[in-house]
Amino acid sequence: MSKRLSKKERALELFRKYSEVFRCPICAKWLVVYEPSGLRCGSNHNFDLAKNGYLNLLNTHPKSEYGKELFLARRKVFSSYIFHGLWTELYDTIENIEPKNGVVLDAGCGEGLLLSRLYQRFPSLKLIGLDISRDGIKLAASHAEPIIWCVGDLAQLPLNDRVADVVLNILSPANYSEFERVLKHSGYVIKVIPGEEYLQEIRELVTDTTPYNNQDVMENLKDNMNIVEVRKVHYKSEVVSEFQSEIIKMTPLTSKRGLSTRPIDSLTIDLNIVRCSFN
Ligand SMILES: C[S@@+](CC[C@H](N)C(=O)[O-])C[C@H]1O[C@@H](n2cnc3c(N)ncnc32)[C@H](O)[C@@H]1O
Ligand SMILES: [Zn+2]
Repeated sequence: MSKRLSKKERALELFRKYSEVFRCPICAKWLVVYEPSGLRCGSNHNFDLAKNGYLNLLNTHPKSEYGKELFLARRKVFSSYIFHGLWTELYDTIENIEPKNGVVLDAGCGEGLLLSRLYQRFPSLKLIGLDISRDGIKLAASHAEPIIWCVGDLAQLPLNDRVADVVLNILSPANYSEFERVLKHSGYVIKVIPGEEYLQEIRELVTDTTPYNNQDVMENLKDNMNIVEVRKVHYKSEVVSEFQSEIIKMTPLTSKRGLSTRPIDSLTIDLNIVRCSFN
């Protein structure tokens, strides 16, 4: 009977398989697997894999407003019927690109739900999730699918030039010069940007907030990339009582803010899925 591999051993196997993809975030030399436990570059910068198989590429511990409780709440709500409409359009957008066995980077992947679902639909893709929040990546590494998870900064991607077929950037900050560097010429960025009514029922609970406006984000995107397609996902979903507490916890909008306590009966999902290229 063959020995069951640990999470760390499985992750090392994946890194070996993707050996041309990674570079050192400090000196930009290629990163290769060194036995028994991590990756090393030509200048001897070492990065050890954590026990549950993720790679920490940051030598700082940045403070983040995204913590474990938020990510757990987010996972529960995003995997429910409430976000079903977003998933359908996202899968369709990715399917239309046909990345086949290409490299897909999720820059700002949070707790990793999107890549775990993508693997189930498109198992030949090489999937890499990166987030600056260690809590997010720790949770992401609890998904069973063969995906590479890294704690890292999307402003200093640990990827070689022109290796990615798709960069996903879902409700997260962007760094277009890094996206351009790592993306193949034929590649696409798929960015999800909130519309003005996104989660408006949560905003209404917060006593000191202003309405959301995506104008700056859209302008920055248009200054850097060419928009190929925009899909608008806009609907109101009923919220059953099972989700009340997670709805409040799933966004930094509500943390440390004055909140009125009435329950939320429905939630507006107003998102733009923007497919863009540098060509
Ligand atoms: C609203 S969450 C979205 C997470 C995930 N895409 C989702 O939709 O559930 C924004 C994410 O961006 C990450 N983030 C913020 N700045 C980042 C950076 N410089 N590099 C990598 N990730 C970053 C945060 O840690 C957080 O997980
Ligand atoms: Zn190095």
